[in-house]
Amino acid sequence: MRGQVVFTRDAAGALGRMLEGTAEEEVYVLADENSRRWCVGRLGLEGVPEARRLVMAAGEGAKSLETAARVWQWLSERGARRGSVLVNGGGGGVTGLGGFAAWCFKRGVRHINVPTTLLAQVDASVGGKTGVDFNGLKNEVGTFAEPEGVVVDNGMLAMLPRREVLSGLAEMVKHALLDSGEHVEEVLAADLADVAGAGFLGLIEQSVAVKARFVRQDPKEGGWRRALNLGHTAGHAIESAALQRGEAVTHGEAVAHGLEAALWLSVRKRGFDARLYGRVREFVRRTYPRCEAAAEGDALYALMLHDKKNERAGVNFTLLRAPGEPEINCYCEREEILEALKEIG
Ligand SMILES: NC(=O)c1ccc[n+]([C@@H]2O[C@H](COP(=O)([O-])OP(=O)(O)OC[C@H]3O[C@@H](n4cnc5c(N)ncnc54)[C@H](O)[C@@H]3O)[C@@H](O)[C@H]2O)c1
Repeated sequence: MRGQVVFTRDAAGALGRMLEGTAEEEVYVLADENSRRWCVGRLGLEGVPEARRLVMAAGEGAKSLETAARVWQWLSERGARRGSVLVNGGGGGVTGLGGFAAWCFKRGVRHINVPTTLLAQVDASVGGKTGVDFNGLKNEVGTFAEPEGVVVDNGMLAMLPRREVLSGLAEMVKHALLDSGEHVEEVLAADLADVAGAGFLGLIEQSVAVKARFVRQDPKEGGWRRALNLGHTAGHAIESAALQRGEAVTHGEAVAHGLEAALWLSVRKRGFDARLYGRVREFVRRTYPRCEAAAEGDALYALMLHDKKNERAGVNFTLLRAPGEPEINCYCEREEILEALKEIG
């Protein structure tokens, strides 16, 4: 990865160092209604006036071309230039949209991510994937745009609702599964009451390190990076189904169920340890709401077929032979997939 990721309890200090040499009037801040509170004093950005701050609506609904256009208009009217820097302070919604908007504006202005949700800290803000939802489909329009830097300060998670904490936890479980069995046990046993505490920062760093390893080897997802799609083939379909029905399902809830489906297929097709599958399944059942969408197997299957990562008819999954041993592009038959969805419903 190109951008530097800093894990800290002093976000202002870390951001200050990244902004060294940048005139204060070149700094623009994008946040949403909930993350804005962290984007002033905690970031040492008291000097940035209201005119150079934009607050977008919170939630997936705001991750749209319309919001991106609002950002472009705001930057344009205020005379932002190539040397300007957009600080995206928020969850994956803000970092994904802000990164995309920065990449397009004047063919690219600098951007720095300050993730304020657990999901964004362990996943969305690193790796360079940016974009917006379009035509009822998640992340349908977007690009790879590496941030110049990422500041991860988990003290900002102090007021994050539990549901959002669990959303990020699902990606941590995924990263652990891509790493080692030991790491999986550690994440399943993590003390979520301490998510904003100093002790949890190490777990976040460990999770990002797993992602970074795959991204470094294959930044544009030509192949190996697809291992990170573990749980996302079914997960994206579950999320898109919810989006189309106007239901609120978090990314992590969808991924948690997607992981269950992928591990079930891994047991059947790649000899993954059935006991560990059972352990993760039990964890998902105990921790996340039931997956309503699983009842509509055919609709989910149609959404998976639409997935941009498929190169031939049918659906390719990332499966695991064992923790830390992913296999990408595992072709799965419709019948197997429908069975897996029944299993998680
Ligand atoms: N680019 C990638 O690699 C990647 C990876 C995973 C997910 N994503 C994307 O990320 C998005 C999901 O990210 P998310 O879960 O962070 O969503 P989000 O940005 O919508 O944030 C979730 C909620 O938490 C609120 N929030 C943010 N910071 C807060 C804080 N510190 N305290 C209290 N509330 C706070 C937000 O306002 C929002 O209501 C999805 O759009 C998904 O597609 C991208």
